[in-house]
Amino acid sequence: MSVNVEKQVHEVLEQVIVPEVMRSVEQMNLVRDVAITDGTVKVTLASTAMAAEIQNIIKGMVREGVSRVPGVTEVVVDFVDVKPKEINEIGKVIAVMSGKGGVGKSLVTGLLAVFLARNGNRVGILDADITGSSIPRMFGLTMHPRGSESGIIPVTSRSGIEAMAMNVLLEKEEDAVIWRGPLMSKVITQFWEEVLWGKLDYLVVDLPPGTSDAALTVMQTIPLTGVIDVFTPQDLTEMIVMKAVNMARKMNVHVLGVVENMSYLVLPESGKKMEIFGASKAEKMAAVTGAPLLGVLPIEPEVARLCDAGDIEKYHSDAAAELFNNVIAALNEREAK
Ligand SMILES: Nc1ncnc2c1ncn2[C@@H]1O[C@H](COP(=O)(O)OP(=O)(O)O)[C@@H](O)[C@H]1O
Ligand SMILES: [Mg+2]
Repeated sequence: MSVNVEKQVHEVLEQVIVPEVMRSVEQMNLVRDVAITDGTVKVTLASTAMAAEIQNIIKGMVREGVSRVPGVTEVVVDFVDVKPKEINEIGKVIAVMSGKGGVGKSLVTGLLAVFLARNGNRVGILDADITGSSIPRMFGLTMHPRGSESGIIPVTSRSGIEAMAMNVLLEKEEDAVIWRGPLMSKVITQFWEEVLWGKLDYLVVDLPPGTSDAALTVMQTIPLTGVIDVFTPQDLTEMIVMKAVNMARKMNVHVLGVVENMSYLVLPESGKKMEIFGASKAEKMAAVTGAPLLGVLPIEPEVARLCDAGDIEKYHSDAAAELFNNVIAALNEREAK
């Protein structure tokens, strides 16, 4: 009897949606305990990142829903203080890095998150590029995150991807963030420890360019499953790519593989591939780094347009699908070891 009641209570909690967040208390991992004694059900929830009035609304919804479960005569709802860090249950964390800026890290981060979400995963993006935050623009995120003294709730994209970035905290997106390294490191740490990510299958981290303090903080603070290194086929690539790969290895972070972005352009009239930045260095970089080549992305005016319009979630391409299937394969291989 009680097992059945417990199952039904959890089914109710699966449907209790936190106002303004649009995720259930179960998805946010706020349910800390369900205790059943005879007809009395005691539900203990974390109050993390919830203002008092939100807590009251949730309490009312839980009471109402649980009291309708057959056999339940009394419902008690208690709140406890728990740190976001203790609540978050994050499966795999993948960081996207590169030795320099403008190579498409944010694009690869965004597209990877979109691909994983389309495949039925719960996905978050932590934008660790504090001064060059570009994830909100790509996803068209205009709202500010909710929260309380005890934690911040990420914003949610149209397809349900959670995101935390400097730009969603700013009053105006174009406000400049001029900070020194230590302050940036502090914010990145907060994005990891004080943001209520809840239950996620994947968190994708967009790193700032190079081997800066911020990249170091991410590698020291966040338990990364692996990093993806993005480059374009331009001069000095080898030195730049090796710098990033060496940093990861020095920090004992697994390199899942390398990605060549802006590798070629397909000419619309002839369908011919034109290597605008010179011959592809994809195979060479894989050999030099000793890391697998995960994929090659062409230059596509359409992808740049969608990113500018905040519509990255509408983008599909075979090259991207192949790349991300290889990322999944690299993750599975890593897990099997
Ligand atoms: N394969 C591509 N085709 C067309 N535009 C691209 C491609 N990759 C990146 N871009 C564009 O180039 C710019 C820089 O990309 P971004 O992902 O922001 O680089 P990074 O994060 O490495 O600085 C963006 O405007 C982006 O839309
Ligand atoms: Mg970027």
